[in-house]
Amino acid sequence: MDVIHTVSGLRERLRGEASVAFVPTMGNLHAGHLSLIELAKAKARCVVSSIFVNRLQFEPGGDFDRYPRTLERDCEMLRAAGCHVVFAPDEAELYPEPQEIRLTAPKAADQLCGPYRPGHFEGVLTVVCKLFDIVCPQVAVFGSKDYQQLHLIRMMVRQLNFGIEIISGDTVREADGLAMSSRNGYLNAAERKTAVGLYTNLKRIKDAIEGGSREYDALRRDAIDALDADGWRVDYVELRDAGRLEAPKPEDMNLRVIGAAWLGKTRLIDNLEITRK
Ligand code: PAJ
Repeated sequence: MDVIHTVSGLRERLRGEASVAFVPTMGNLHAGHLSLIELAKAKARCVVSSIFVNRLQFEPGGDFDRYPRTLERDCEMLRAAGCHVVFAPDEAELYPEPQEIRLTAPKAADQLCGPYRPGHFEGVLTVVCKLFDIVCPQVAVFGSKDYQQLHLIRMMVRQLNFGIEIISGDTVREADGLAMSSRNGYLNAAERKTAVGLYTNLKRIKDAIEGGSREYDALRRDAIDALDADGWRVDYVELRDAGRLEAPKPEDMNLRVIGAAWLGKTRLIDNLEITRK
Protein backbone atom coordinates (compact mmCIF):
# COMPACT_ATOMS: atom_id res chain seq x y z
CA MET A 1 0.00 0.00 0.00
CA ASP A 2 1.31 3.42 -0.96
CA VAL A 3 0.83 6.42 1.32
CA ILE A 4 0.98 9.60 -0.76
CA HIS A 5 0.86 13.17 0.50
CA THR A 6 0.91 15.26 -2.67
CA VAL A 7 -1.55 15.81 -5.51
CA SER A 8 1.16 15.36 -8.13
CA GLY A 9 2.41 12.17 -6.46
CA LEU A 10 -1.08 10.74 -6.42
CA ARG A 11 -1.73 11.60 -10.07
CA GLU A 12 1.57 9.95 -10.97
CA ARG A 13 0.74 6.79 -8.96
CA LEU A 14 -2.74 6.46 -10.48
CA ARG A 15 -1.67 7.03 -14.08
CA GLY A 16 -2.41 3.85 -15.98
CA GLU A 17 -4.83 2.40 -13.40
CA ALA A 18 -7.77 1.14 -15.43
CA SER A 19 -10.33 1.30 -12.61
CA VAL A 20 -10.24 3.18 -9.33
CA ALA A 21 -12.74 3.02 -6.46
CA PHE A 22 -12.46 5.84 -3.94
CA VAL A 23 -13.35 6.05 -0.23
CA PRO A 24 -12.94 9.58 1.18
CA THR A 25 -12.58 9.86 4.97
CA MET A 26 -11.39 12.21 7.70
CA GLY A 27 -9.42 9.40 9.35
CA ASN A 28 -9.66 7.99 12.88
CA LEU A 29 -10.98 4.92 11.13
CA HIS A 30 -13.31 2.29 12.53
CA ALA A 31 -15.11 -0.78 11.19
CA GLY A 32 -17.67 1.47 9.44
CA HIS A 33 -14.98 2.98 7.24
CA LEU A 34 -13.44 -0.44 6.60
CA SER A 35 -16.80 -1.79 5.41
CA LEU A 36 -16.68 0.87 2.67
CA ILE A 37 -13.21 -0.36 1.65
CA GLU A 38 -14.70 -3.86 1.26
CA LEU A 39 -17.40 -2.48 -1.05
CA ALA A 40 -14.75 -0.57 -3.02
CA LYS A 41 -12.61 -3.69 -3.46
CA ALA A 42 -15.51 -5.45 -5.16
CA LYS A 43 -15.81 -2.57 -7.64
CA ALA A 44 -12.31 -1.84 -8.93
CA ARG A 45 -8.76 -3.15 -9.19
CA CYS A 46 -7.34 -0.16 -7.34
CA VAL A 47 -8.85 1.15 -4.09
CA VAL A 48 -7.87 4.65 -3.01
CA SER A 49 -8.81 6.12 0.37
CA SER A 50 -8.19 9.70 1.44
CA ILE A 51 -7.58 10.93 4.95
CA PHE A 52 -8.06 14.66 5.35
CA VAL A 53 -9.69 16.60 8.19
CA ASN A 54 -11.41 19.25 6.13
CA ARG A 55 -11.44 22.60 7.93
CA LEU A 56 -13.97 23.95 5.42
CA GLN A 57 -16.75 21.71 6.71
CA PHE A 58 -16.37 22.55 10.41
CA GLU A 59 -18.53 25.39 11.59
CA PRO A 60 -16.92 28.17 13.66
CA GLY A 61 -16.52 26.89 17.22
CA GLY A 62 -16.82 23.30 16.00
CA ASP A 63 -14.50 20.41 16.83
CA PHE A 64 -11.92 20.89 14.04
CA ASP A 65 -9.02 21.34 16.46
CA ARG A 66 -9.88 18.40 18.67
CA TYR A 67 -10.92 16.06 15.82
CA PRO A 68 -8.75 12.93 16.35
CA ARG A 69 -5.77 12.59 13.98
CA THR A 70 -4.44 9.03 13.97
CA LEU A 71 -2.73 8.68 10.59
CA GLU A 72 -0.32 5.86 11.45
CA ARG A 73 -2.98 3.64 12.97
CA ASP A 74 -5.37 4.47 10.12
CA CYS A 75 -2.78 3.40 7.54
CA GLU A 76 -2.22 0.10 9.38
CA MET A 77 -5.97 -0.55 9.30
CA LEU A 78 -6.23 0.34 5.62
CA ARG A 79 -3.27 -1.86 4.74
CA ALA A 80 -4.82 -4.80 6.59
CA ALA A 81 -8.15 -4.14 4.85
CA GLY A 82 -6.54 -4.39 1.41
CA CYS A 83 -6.57 -0.73 0.38
CA HIS A 84 -3.99 0.04 -2.31
CA VAL A 85 -3.36 3.76 -2.04
CA VAL A 86 -3.84 6.27 0.81
CA PHE A 87 -3.97 9.94 -0.08
CA ALA A 88 -3.17 12.00 3.02
CA PRO A 89 -2.49 15.60 2.02
CA ASP A 90 -1.85 18.35 4.54
CA GLU A 91 -3.88 21.56 4.47
CA ALA A 92 -1.30 23.49 2.43
CA GLU A 93 -1.41 20.78 -0.23
CA LEU A 94 -5.20 20.78 -0.66
CA TYR A 95 -5.75 24.47 0.09
CA PRO A 96 -2.54 26.20 -1.10
CA GLU A 97 -4.48 29.45 -1.36
CA PRO A 98 -7.72 30.53 0.33
CA GLN A 99 -10.48 28.36 -1.14
CA GLU A 100 -12.60 31.21 -2.43
CA ILE A 101 -14.24 29.11 -5.12
CA ARG A 102 -16.77 26.84 -3.42
CA LEU A 103 -19.78 24.79 -4.34
CA THR A 104 -23.15 26.20 -3.37
CA ALA A 105 -25.17 23.59 -1.54
CA PRO A 106 -28.68 22.98 -2.95
CA LYS A 107 -31.97 23.54 -1.10
CA ALA A 108 -31.83 19.97 0.22
CA ALA A 109 -29.01 21.21 2.47
CA ASP A 110 -31.20 23.85 4.14
CA GLN A 111 -32.93 21.27 6.36
CA LEU A 112 -32.00 18.52 8.86
CA CYS A 113 -28.31 19.11 9.77
CA GLY A 114 -27.95 22.17 7.49
CA PRO A 115 -29.39 24.88 9.76
CA TYR A 116 -27.43 23.54 12.74
CA ARG A 117 -24.10 23.44 10.88
CA PRO A 118 -23.79 26.63 8.79
CA GLY A 119 -21.43 26.14 5.86
CA HIS A 120 -20.96 22.44 6.60
CA PHE A 121 -22.38 20.98 3.39
CA GLU A 122 -20.78 23.66 1.23
CA GLY A 123 -17.47 22.56 2.77
CA VAL A 124 -18.21 18.86 2.24
CA LEU A 125 -19.24 19.33 -1.40
CA THR A 126 -16.25 21.55 -2.13
CA VAL A 127 -13.68 19.10 -0.75
CA VAL A 128 -15.35 16.05 -2.31
CA CYS A 129 -15.45 17.87 -5.65
CA LYS A 130 -11.72 18.60 -5.36
CA LEU A 131 -10.93 15.03 -4.31
CA PHE A 132 -12.97 13.60 -7.21
CA ASP A 133 -10.99 15.82 -9.56
CA ILE A 134 -7.68 14.68 -8.08
CA VAL A 135 -8.44 10.94 -7.81
CA CYS A 136 -10.62 10.61 -10.94
CA PRO A 137 -12.36 7.44 -9.70
CA GLN A 138 -14.96 5.44 -11.61
CA VAL A 139 -16.68 4.55 -8.34
CA ALA A 140 -16.88 6.32 -4.97
CA VAL A 141 -18.26 4.81 -1.76
CA PHE A 142 -20.07 6.70 1.03
CA GLY A 143 -21.83 5.57 4.20
CA SER A 144 -25.57 5.97 4.60
CA LYS A 145 -24.85 6.89 8.24
CA ASP A 146 -24.42 10.43 6.85
CA TYR A 147 -27.62 10.20 4.87
CA GLN A 148 -28.01 13.87 3.98
CA GLN A 149 -24.36 14.03 2.90
CA LEU A 150 -24.87 10.96 0.68
CA HIS A 151 -27.98 12.55 -0.86
CA LEU A 152 -26.15 15.81 -1.61
CA ILE A 153 -23.15 14.03 -3.12
CA ARG A 154 -25.43 12.07 -5.43
CA MET A 155 -27.03 15.39 -6.47
CA MET A 156 -23.62 16.95 -7.09
CA VAL A 157 -22.49 14.01 -9.24
CA ARG A 158 -25.71 14.24 -11.29
CA GLN A 159 -25.82 18.01 -11.67
CA LEU A 160 -22.09 18.40 -12.40
CA ASN A 161 -21.90 15.34 -14.68
CA PHE A 162 -19.04 13.70 -12.80
CA GLY A 163 -19.82 10.31 -14.32
CA ILE A 164 -18.83 8.59 -11.06
CA GLU A 165 -20.91 5.70 -9.74
CA ILE A 166 -21.85 6.40 -6.11
CA ILE A 167 -22.21 3.31 -3.92
CA SER A 168 -23.62 3.50 -0.40
CA GLY A 169 -22.71 1.29 2.55
CA ASP A 170 -24.97 0.34 5.46
CA THR A 171 -24.24 1.80 8.87
CA VAL A 172 -21.94 -0.38 10.97
CA ARG A 173 -22.95 -0.41 14.64
CA GLU A 174 -21.51 -1.29 18.03
CA ALA A 175 -22.95 -4.38 19.75
CA ASP A 176 -25.65 -2.30 21.52
CA GLY A 177 -26.73 -0.57 18.29
CA LEU A 178 -24.83 2.74 18.56
CA ALA A 179 -23.67 3.80 15.08
CA MET A 180 -19.87 3.77 14.89
CA SER A 181 -18.45 7.28 14.64
CA SER A 182 -15.13 8.96 15.23
CA ARG A 183 -17.01 11.29 17.57
CA ASN A 184 -18.01 8.41 19.89
CA GLY A 185 -14.50 8.74 21.30
CA TYR A 186 -15.52 12.08 22.86
CA LEU A 187 -18.11 10.38 25.09
CA ASN A 188 -17.42 9.69 28.77
CA ALA A 189 -18.55 6.38 30.29
CA ALA A 190 -21.96 7.66 31.38
CA GLU A 191 -22.61 9.35 28.02
CA ARG A 192 -21.54 6.20 26.19
CA LYS A 193 -24.26 4.24 28.02
CA THR A 194 -26.89 6.84 27.12
CA ALA A 195 -25.65 7.15 23.52
CA VAL A 196 -27.49 4.10 22.23
CA GLY A 197 -30.75 5.97 22.96
CA LEU A 198 -30.55 7.84 19.66
CA TYR A 199 -30.64 4.50 17.82
CA THR A 200 -33.31 2.92 20.04
CA ASN A 201 -35.64 5.90 19.68
CA LEU A 202 -35.26 5.97 15.89
CA LYS A 203 -35.79 2.20 15.88
CA ARG A 204 -39.02 2.61 17.82
CA ILE A 205 -40.30 4.98 15.11
CA LYS A 206 -39.22 2.55 12.38
CA ASP A 207 -40.94 -0.39 14.08
CA ALA A 208 -44.15 1.58 14.67
CA ILE A 209 -44.42 2.72 11.04
CA GLU A 210 -43.49 -0.69 9.65
CA GLY A 211 -46.13 -2.08 12.02
CA GLY A 212 -48.78 0.15 10.43
CA SER A 213 -48.73 3.46 12.36
CA ARG A 214 -49.09 6.64 10.29
CA GLU A 215 -48.81 8.99 13.28
CA TYR A 216 -45.55 10.44 12.00
CA ASP A 217 -45.66 13.63 14.03
CA ALA A 218 -46.66 12.01 17.30
CA LEU A 219 -43.92 9.40 16.88
CA ARG A 220 -41.28 12.07 16.29
CA ARG A 221 -42.45 14.10 19.26
CA ASP A 222 -42.44 11.05 21.55
CA ALA A 223 -38.87 10.28 20.51
CA ILE A 224 -37.75 13.87 21.14
CA ASP A 225 -39.43 13.84 24.58
CA ALA A 226 -37.82 10.50 25.48
CA LEU A 227 -34.37 11.75 24.43
CA ASP A 228 -34.87 15.04 26.33
CA ALA A 229 -35.82 13.09 29.45
CA ASP A 230 -32.64 11.06 29.10
CA GLY A 231 -30.40 14.14 29.10
CA TRP A 232 -30.00 14.69 25.36
CA ARG A 233 -30.30 18.05 23.64
CA VAL A 234 -32.12 17.21 20.44
CA ASP A 235 -31.43 19.17 17.24
CA TYR A 236 -34.08 17.25 15.29
CA VAL A 237 -35.82 13.95 14.69
CA GLU A 238 -37.47 13.94 11.27
CA LEU A 239 -39.07 11.65 8.74
CA ARG A 240 -38.16 12.02 5.10
CA ASP A 241 -38.96 10.32 1.85
CA ALA A 242 -35.83 8.22 1.26
CA GLY A 243 -35.36 9.25 -2.37
CA ARG A 244 -36.26 12.95 -2.45
CA LEU A 245 -35.25 13.72 1.13
CA GLU A 246 -38.46 15.76 1.46
CA ALA A 247 -41.28 15.53 4.01
CA PRO A 248 -43.08 12.26 3.25
CA LYS A 249 -46.34 12.29 1.34
CA PRO A 250 -49.02 9.84 2.49
CA GLU A 251 -48.28 7.58 -0.47
CA ASP A 252 -44.49 7.44 0.04
CA MET A 253 -43.46 3.88 0.97
CA ASN A 254 -39.69 4.21 1.38
CA LEU A 255 -38.88 6.54 4.25
CA ARG A 256 -35.93 7.44 6.38
CA VAL A 257 -36.05 8.51 10.01
CA ILE A 258 -33.13 10.80 10.75
CA GLY A 259 -31.99 12.34 14.00
CA ALA A 260 -29.25 14.53 15.46
CA ALA A 261 -28.75 15.22 19.13
CA TRP A 262 -26.16 16.30 21.65
CA LEU A 263 -24.85 14.44 24.66
CA GLY A 264 -22.82 17.00 26.58
CA LYS A 265 -20.39 18.49 24.07
CA THR A 266 -20.77 15.68 21.54
CA ARG A 267 -23.20 15.80 18.62
CA LEU A 268 -24.29 12.42 17.27
CA ILE A 269 -26.36 11.61 14.19
CA ASP A 270 -28.09 8.46 13.04
CA ASN A 271 -30.81 7.32 10.65
CA LEU A 272 -32.75 4.20 9.72
CA GLU A 273 -34.46 2.94 6.61
CA ILE A 274 -38.23 2.44 6.87
CA THR A 275 -40.06 0.27 4.36
CA ARG A 276 -43.84 0.55 4.59
CA LYS A 277 -45.75 -2.53 3.57
P1 PAJ B 1 -15.95 10.59 7.84
O1 PAJ B 1 -16.84 11.06 8.92
O2 PAJ B 1 -14.56 10.15 8.17
O3 PAJ B 1 -16.68 9.42 7.09
C1 PAJ B 1 -16.11 8.83 5.95
C2 PAJ B 1 -17.13 7.89 5.34
O4 PAJ B 1 -17.42 6.84 6.27
C3 PAJ B 1 -18.47 8.61 5.04
O5 PAJ B 1 -18.96 8.16 3.78
C4 PAJ B 1 -19.35 8.14 6.19
O6 PAJ B 1 -20.74 8.14 5.85
C5 PAJ B 1 -18.83 6.73 6.42
N1 PAJ B 1 -19.18 6.23 7.76
C6 PAJ B 1 -19.03 6.87 8.94
N2 PAJ B 1 -19.48 6.11 9.96
C7 PAJ B 1 -19.94 4.96 9.41
C8 PAJ B 1 -20.53 3.76 9.94
N3 PAJ B 1 -20.75 3.62 11.25
N4 PAJ B 1 -20.88 2.78 9.08
C9 PAJ B 1 -20.65 2.93 7.74
N5 PAJ B 1 -20.09 4.03 7.18
C10 PAJ B 1 -19.73 5.03 8.00
O7 PAJ B 1 -17.94 11.85 5.99
C11 PAJ B 1 -16.82 12.35 6.06
O8 PAJ B 1 -15.78 11.76 6.74
C12 PAJ B 1 -16.46 13.65 5.37
O9 PAJ B 1 -17.58 14.49 5.34
C13 PAJ B 1 -15.92 13.45 3.92
C14 PAJ B 1 -16.96 12.80 3.00
C15 PAJ B 1 -14.65 12.60 3.96
C16 PAJ B 1 -15.54 14.84 3.32
O10 PAJ B 1 -14.62 15.49 4.12
